Amino acid sequence: MLDGKKIALAKEFSLIKSMELHDRALQVLPSGVSSNARLWHKSCRANRPCSIFIDRAKGSHLWDVDGNEYIDYRLGFGPVILGHSYSAVHERIHEYDEKGVIFALDNPLEVSVAEKVQTTVPSAEMVRFSVTGTEATMHAIRIARGYTRREKIIKFEGMYHGAHDYLLFSTEPPFDSPRAVPFPSSLGIPKALNDLVIVQEWNDFDSIERTISKYGAEVAAIICEPVMGNAAVIPPAPGFLKLLKELSDKHGIVLIFDEVKTGFRLASGGAQQLFGVKPHLSSFAKSLANGYPISMIAGLQEVMGVVGPKKVAHGGTYAGNPISMAAAEATLDEFGTKHVHDSINKFGEKLMKGIRAILEDKHVDGIVQGFPAMFQVLFTKQDEVKNYRDLSSCDFELFARLQLELLKHGVMFDEDNGEPLFTCYSHDDRDLDRTLEAFETALPRALESKFPVEAENRFTVWR
Ligand SMILES: Cc1ncc(COP(=O)(O)O)c(C=O)c1O
Repeated sequence: MLDGKKIALAKEFSLIKSMELHDRALQVLPSGVSSNARLWHKSCRANRPCSIFIDRAKGSHLWDVDGNEYIDYRLGFGPVILGHSYSAVHERIHEYDEKGVIFALDNPLEVSVAEKVQTTVPSAEMVRFSVTGTEATMHAIRIARGYTRREKIIKFEGMYHGAHDYLLFSTEPPFDSPRAVPFPSSLGIPKALNDLVIVQEWNDFDSIERTISKYGAEVAAIICEPVMGNAAVIPPAPGFLKLLKELSDKHGIVLIFDEVKTGFRLASGGAQQLFGVKPHLSSFAKSLANGYPISMIAGLQEVMGVVGPKKVAHGGTYAGNPISMAAAEATLDEFGTKHVHDSINKFGEKLMKGIRAILEDKHVDGIVQGFPAMFQVLFTKQDEVKNYRDLSSCDFELFARLQLELLKHGVMFDEDNGEPLFTCYSHDDRDLDRTLEAFETALPRALESKFPVEAENRFTVWR
């Protein structure tokens, strides 16, 4: 039962059913959600809405259980590249969903999707399918360790590679913590794993060269998101990805691009196509199947060749399931037959430009950084954010207040300034106009509103 204060709040946001559901959920799901990232914890701590329950989605729009409609820029944290409930994907799935969903044997779609991927992604000479991004990066580092017979992994501050213990370090360390020191992002991670992780700052050319010359012979893999997409959107400095490749080649290290967010989104061949740098291994997930659960480890034949019985273990009961494979095949076919990425880029460019114009017009210090398919608005006096620590100057509180104001105007951003805004093939000019109008109205209100969102740091200190 909602108390008097919560009822007033629920009415202000028209979120009565959502707030009632969250109250019930708190009794059965820790924090009232199925994934920590779904809790709008800043708002929640400030006694604002913690979460919204969704009834349905179509195209670029979501409808919540109270009947509110939103233009969606979260897109399931990125996977929805074509649009929600996209007909061509549905139709393909329905061709398969009556044939059974699990056989403990492969189905023909696994081969045809792998062949399509091979022609689309520059480094995908061979692939293995899994279900989540977490599994894909976990398997990728095991393959790298099996191939090199080394153990250490280099990762970058601010990058997230899934929920397994091996890489859940320094995803969002406090800004005043020592730089480039492994900082566990959760309770429950064995201390012994600290010794296997070397943390670096993104775009720091000198540091990575120094580190590799010192530890190169012990390093199995360098793993990075080729565009940082879990601490806002931070592109690689010109030449940085190339340097990572050169250093990896020289020292026998496996370079892994974690393209779970960038893959099939920044271009059909991912960031590796956009930047012209071919990693040895990559992980993909989200946009490969327009939201259906799938992931993939892709790589050069020589490295992927270590996977197999009595060699490097990879497997999964649901790996390559026909429903997700059908969704992937239909999604890849849409890329092949429509100008999906051109259209997304046109829409995203107009949106980025429109937001920049509003910031300028309202004399608000801020930048719009990233790519049309994946970008972020950062309230800062800096011209550019180049690494995780640069984010310390950004006003996350203002962003969180803006997010709440936008909800009232039918536009959904994530409250976390580190989570990019995503665009999709179904966003259209009507969405564009409505979003910019909402932004123009919401920004002054967010500047005026005062509720205490935790301003200091979006990040939780675990130890
Ligand atoms: C770059 C990156 N890698 C891995 C993952 C983990 O993917 P999943 O949530 O499917 O396990 C994510 C999730 O957002 C991600 O952004």
